[in-house]
Amino acid sequence: MADSILDRFDQNMAEDKKIDTTRKIRVGIIGTGWIAEAHIRSYQKQPDVEVVALSDLVPGKAEIFKEKFGVEGAKCYGAHTEMLADQANLKLDAVSVCTYNRTHAVCTIDSLKAGIPVLLEKPMCVTLDEAVAICKAEKETGKIVSVGFQPRFDVNMQMIKKIVDSGELGQIYYIQTGGGRRHGIPTPYGTSFIEDKTAGLGALADIGCYSLDMVLNAIGYPKPLTVSGYKSDFFGKMPITYTRNGHPAEYADLFGVDDFAAGFIRLEGGIILDFRIAWDMHLDTPGDTIIMGTKGSLRIPSTDCWNGSVGGAMKIYHDICGKPTETIVPILQNKPNTSLFDIKIRSFLDAAMNNGAAPVPTSQILYNQAILSGIATSWEKGEEIKIEIPEI
Ligand SMILES: NC(=O)c1ccc[n+]([C@@H]2O[C@H](COP(=O)([O-])OP(=O)(O)OC[C@H]3O[C@@H](n4cnc5c(N)ncnc54)[C@H](O)[C@@H]3O)[C@@H](O)[C@H]2O)c1
Repeated sequence: MADSILDRFDQNMAEDKKIDTTRKIRVGIIGTGWIAEAHIRSYQKQPDVEVVALSDLVPGKAEIFKEKFGVEGAKCYGAHTEMLADQANLKLDAVSVCTYNRTHAVCTIDSLKAGIPVLLEKPMCVTLDEAVAICKAEKETGKIVSVGFQPRFDVNMQMIKKIVDSGELGQIYYIQTGGGRRHGIPTPYGTSFIEDKTAGLGALADIGCYSLDMVLNAIGYPKPLTVSGYKSDFFGKMPITYTRNGHPAEYADLFGVDDFAAGFIRLEGGIILDFRIAWDMHLDTPGDTIIMGTKGSLRIPSTDCWNGSVGGAMKIYHDICGKPTETIVPILQNKPNTSLFDIKIRSFLDAAMNNGAAPVPTSQILYNQAILSGIATSWEKGEEIKIEIPEI
């Protein structure tokens, strides 16, 4: 019985598509920090891509990056505006926006207005207003934005959606999601994740966006209606000395975001979403992800270092012939030799070059962002708030 249930969710691995190498896709990268390294490595694996422009606000940083990755022929710029002002010469087909959260919106909107499709790193941005402005610019320019949620391409994540779509769980009415790290404030890589002027939001947006995407994508991204939010910074503000590049460093004075956040969200369709996320806590996990339905419920185990992956075999709890039964959904193997990051890059390029739909569209992630910024706003106001999203 269990096997026949699982057979219905059989994975459908996409066949390798043939890549047209007769023309090179001209790519620019805005922000040459940590995550840009993953972007360049992935672009360099694509046989039809030429990275022709690199931009970073910090003088000399793009040049060092160019040298490190041997991006011969790439032109280096300071602010993204300098790079985009040279678009007539550069003729960029696509850009990756790899800046810290606070400049996601401006870099994306300016790129769209220069006529260039954008692969935007997660989280989408910081505020709901910025997210709406991105969506409007996308509509006005007709150029796509895909948001960089690589877990979307994990077959285990796709399985969660398949299980919900199959109807096996019946009507979904309650979801708990989130996760976190026991001690994992991301300071070893610099301070752009923890300073308000660069990050804007902390654990809430950094890893919370993945938890929300895991469940919201599975249930078809219903509109969030209200949110009651909480956030705190007890751990970030503790005068603890970390080791960075082999040297002791202390960040309490710089820490300007949340290290823990929680929210209670009402979604269209009468579904309740209960969410919590931590960069630091005295607990192994703030809970597994659970999706409860009228015919069955799904438990998705948490992970140690929450970054949007499935932590172990999932379990469906349901009654079979009136008997409470548990069906194990084993962990599926992703395609060998292709990282989720490579799929994120390739699927964006294919969509950008063929006027296709964005693989991770802003029409969905707008709702994810509305919840993140709604949690922050609700906490600041000290009350539950209505989420008002204007027509795009
Ligand atoms: N998808 C993932 O797995 C993943 C992993 C890590 C980080 N990220 C995301 O990537 C983003 C960047 O993170 P990071 O760790 O690389 O940060 P970082 O601070 O190392 O790099 C960001 C760079 O952007 C530059 N920058 C900012 N505004 C700019 C502008 N207007 N023009 C040109 N350059 C500009 C900064 O000078 C900096 O060098 C964050 O939003 C983060 O959430 C995603």
